[in-house]
Amino acid sequence: MHKSFRRKPLSLLLKEVNSEHRLHRILGPVALTSLGVGAIIGTGIFVLIGVAAHDKAGPAVTLSFAIAGMACVFAALCYAEFASMVPVAGSAYTYAYATLGELMAWIIGWDLILEYGVASATVAHGWSKYFQDFIGIFGLGVPAIFANAPFDFDPSSGVLIITDSWFDLPAVFITFVITVILVKGIKESANVNAGMVIFKVAIVLLIIGLGAMYVKPSNWIPFAPYGFSGLTIFGHTVLGETGASGAPVGVLAGAAMIFFAYIGFDSISTHAEEAKNPQRDIPIALISSLVICTILYIAVAAVITGMVPYNNINIDAPVSNAFMQVGIGWAQLIVSLGAITGITSVLLVMMLSQPRIFLAMSRDGLLPKSFFGAIHHKFRTPWKSTILTGGFVAILGGLLPLRLLAELVNIGTLFAFVIVCTAVLIMRKTHPDAHRPFRAPLVPLVPLAGILTCLTLMFSLPVENWIRLFGWLVIGIVIYFFYGRKHSALNSYESDGNE
Ligand code: ALA
Repeated sequence: MHKSFRRKPLSLLLKEVNSEHRLHRILGPVALTSLGVGAIIGTGIFVLIGVAAHDKAGPAVTLSFAIAGMACVFAALCYAEFASMVPVAGSAYTYAYATLGELMAWIIGWDLILEYGVASATVAHGWSKYFQDFIGIFGLGVPAIFANAPFDFDPSSGVLIITDSWFDLPAVFITFVITVILVKGIKESANVNAGMVIFKVAIVLLIIGLGAMYVKPSNWIPFAPYGFSGLTIFGHTVLGETGASGAPVGVLAGAAMIFFAYIGFDSISTHAEEAKNPQRDIPIALISSLVICTILYIAVAAVITGMVPYNNINIDAPVSNAFMQVGIGWAQLIVSLGAITGITSVLLVMMLSQPRIFLAMSRDGLLPKSFFGAIHHKFRTPWKSTILTGGFVAILGGLLPLRLLAELVNIGTLFAFVIVCTAVLIMRKTHPDAHRPFRAPLVPLVPLAGILTCLTLMFSLPVENWIRLFGWLVIGIVIYFFYGRKHSALNSYESDGNE
């Protein structure tokens, strides 16, 4: 059992940071911030805001955005401290390895697949919907057999419905294109991303500026028709009300749902190895991308709920539909374009991050190194695992009912945040004198607030998500005991006489 709880020594981590065979260090603070914004603004603000306002929080969805943003700021400060201490590719996985031991690290690495891999599939699906909307404006369409996943999940009845499709071709297509770009190189990926980020931020600003002219303050009343809470513990409502489908409603329940909109800022920490000056730039990028997006999100939420009464907000394309409802239909074209671009860059950064987590895990021997650790001799990218990630995302995105998976992504990510905040507390105790170029302020208050807010949001998600998360983690633990434990690089490190 000792093996499962051994920690990766900080000294070993730092030694590895300076070793050969690392990725290219070419990203500065602007490129890193733009990767962050690239990963953040997407499906959440263009799609999920609709359900959150309509079914969960009403105009108080602005408050939901503020709460989810706050939980992320606490977590970001903790990520920043760790990323500046150990600037390696593994993000939360590496931080857990250094503090909580090997098994917990593996669990987090496995959990991060939910964040990056499964979120990518969710996002690819969202891309397909907006793409089909967009070409629909010009009277074009994708043949029905390639327009959707073969079955879908109806959240109100809880049953699977057969669609008439074979698979979602646009979702598979965009995944293929992104995979090719990612194999080609980090520089190309960052450049493609930067262009898309400028465009999507411009569109978001346009939505805010133009939308503000059509706001009727009377639409903000009642402000919180579903109440301010929405907390359930394993299916039992503790605070607030339960909606028709049995899921909690209220501002907190809304925050737990639109938390998805913020996912991705932490992916910046997976690029620590490609940053020119990670100890300074990663914290800057983490915090600035999050703050920029929180402000934009709250503004968009205020504008959309001010333009349209909350119960008339459209669920599939809430933003473009709000403009249609106030009589400026031409904005639909621009908003759709912004959404397609926005979602593409989310996909790019998410699919960029997953192979880097695999890379870190394979270097530690917890995954086969010959495959997951392979760096392309010319492109210097983890190409094999990038292609594997692409295949995984294409299959999930093309075939599965992703509504089932979107909330699973939230609970998985919140879990990772709780671990990172906890790890900061532990590291401060076990290594009080370690060099910390960036220190989270007000420790232990900030990590504790992070743990508390993230746990609250986890409890505000419908109970099935806990069951799915648990199932996923059990599969991961089995794999660890059959593979990782035996092949861990720490086995030989320890047998060489190191502690
Ligand atoms: N935050 C990302 C999005 O909203 C995952 O698409």
